This record gives sequence, structure tokens and C-alpha cells, in this order.
Amino acid sequence: MGSKEAKQQFDTDAMSFVGEKLGFEGKEAYNLLRTNILYSVRRKERQARVLGVTSSLHGEGKSLTALNLAYSLAESGRKVLLIECDMRLPTLRRKLNQPKSAGLSNLLAGMNEDGTVLHQNVIITGLNIVFAGDVPPNPSELLASKNFARLIESIENYYNFIILDLPPVGEVSDALIASKLTDGMIVVVRQDYTRSSDLSYTMRQLEYVDAKIIGFVYNDASHKTHRYKYKYGKGYGK
Ligand SMILES: Nc1ncnc2c1ncn2[C@@H]1O[C@H](COP(=O)(O)OP(=O)(O)OP(=O)(O)O)[C@@H](O)[C@H]1O
Ligand SMILES: [Mg+2]
Repeated sequence: MGSKEAKQQFDTDAMSFVGEKLGFEGKEAYNLLRTNILYSVRRKERQARVLGVTSSLHGEGKSLTALNLAYSLAESGRKVLLIECDMRLPTLRRKLNQPKSAGLSNLLAGMNEDGTVLHQNVIITGLNIVFAGDVPPNPSELLASKNFARLIESIENYYNFIILDLPPVGEVSDALIASKLTDGMIVVVRQDYTRSSDLSYTMRQLEYVDAKIIGFVYNDASHKTHRYKYKYGKGYGK
């Protein structure tokens, strides 16, 4: 794939890039990401480490990275909650073929009467997911609300990791707002897709809000350019 347009055309059903379906090399790449994170984000007593996954643009692989990282952590015996915080353009529920249900937006707006927000042990034991829910008129406000901070606080003791699948920094302020609640941010960059100017802008914005950047995931890298030569092309550095 030589261009952003070509990649967009090539994009397929994401389920073929999740968990066991990745194959050995792809899984190994995410396991390496998991190891790097376990070493670089300090363990907290009885509390989950909260990580945000973002990028500059749509389609760079944030959701796939968040999902596969969550999977890899769950596979290693950790209890993980993945929260889909992209309430504007949610994709995870469809990617995972899960039935429609209330989600984060409903919860934060106090409209979760039937209590079906938490999906437990999705694809693997230990991986719980809260999907985005109905598209709300005010996603930034919901993420900035006390309700969101309280939600994270109230569940922190039940998980080893809480992973926030965030929207891109270059499009909306949601990821910057949510970064305040995280112990660190992972920035996804996709080969032949992300321009250096996009990434510079993203980094400036994240630095401006004092976000702690744990590192970068270089997604969809070709063999030639990837120093670990993973077929799936998932890298992690810095
Ligand atoms: N390494 C890869 N190889 C092949 N396809 C990929 C790869 N990474 C992502 N994709 C595909 O690209 C599309 C976008 O990926 P994903 O939804 O994870 O991106 P995103 O950054 O979360 O996008 P958005 O900002 O729209 O939420 C999906 O169809 C996904 O299957
Ligand atoms: Mg996404």
C-alpha cells in the first residue's frame, strides 16, 4: 500500500486482525507492546493503570491497537477494561460483532436504565468492554464531566488495566481531555498514512496539556522499514 487512499480502500473487516486471528508474528508484536508497557508504566497499589490510545487522524489503527493490547494483557492473566471513548464515530461494537446496547455515552448522561453497559469476557476471559453507546450531541463535555472521572475512580480497584480507545487528536479535543485521567498515552502512527506535520501537531497538543506519552506504535509497517521485521507490522519504540 503506497498511499493513504489505497489503505482506506484496502481496509477490511477488523476481526481478522484481532487476537488469535493475527497469527504468530502479529501476536508477538502486541506481546512486545504489552511487555514495554508493563515495564514503562509504574504499577499502582490496588489500582488499575489507565492508558489512553490516540493518534493524529482517523484510520491509523487506534481501535485495533487498543483492542489487541487489551487482548494481550488479558491473555497474560490481567483483568482489563477497554472503554470505547470515541463516541462520535464508534467502530468497536461492529468490529467485534456484538449486539447493540447502551454504552459510555448513555452511562455518562445518566441514561443507562437497563444496566447492559458492561460486556464481560469478550473474545477472551478477563477482557471486559464498555462500547461507546448512542452518539451523543456533546461527547467532549461528557468526557470532561465529573461523571467520567468518577466512573474511572469507581472501577479502578477492579482492574489491572483500563484502556481508553480515544478519537484522534487532530480532529477533536476529546483525547486531550481524557488524557488527564490516564497514567500515560500511546500514540499510533500508520506507515504511508500519517504525515509528519500531523504528528507534530498531535505531539504539540499533547505536550500542551502535559500528557505523559509512553510511546508510539508504528502500525502497518512494511518488512523493509521495520526493524523487528514483523509481518503484521506492529512496532513500538522510544
Ligand atoms: N496493520 C493493519 N493492517 C491492515 N489493516 C489495518 C491495520 N491497522 C488498521 N487497519 C484497518 O484500518 C481501519 C482503521 O483501523 P482502526 O479502526 O483501528 O483505526 P482508528 O485509528 O481507530 O480509526 P478511527 O479514528 O476512525 O476510530 C480498519 O478497517 C482496520 O481493520
Ligand atoms: Mg477507532
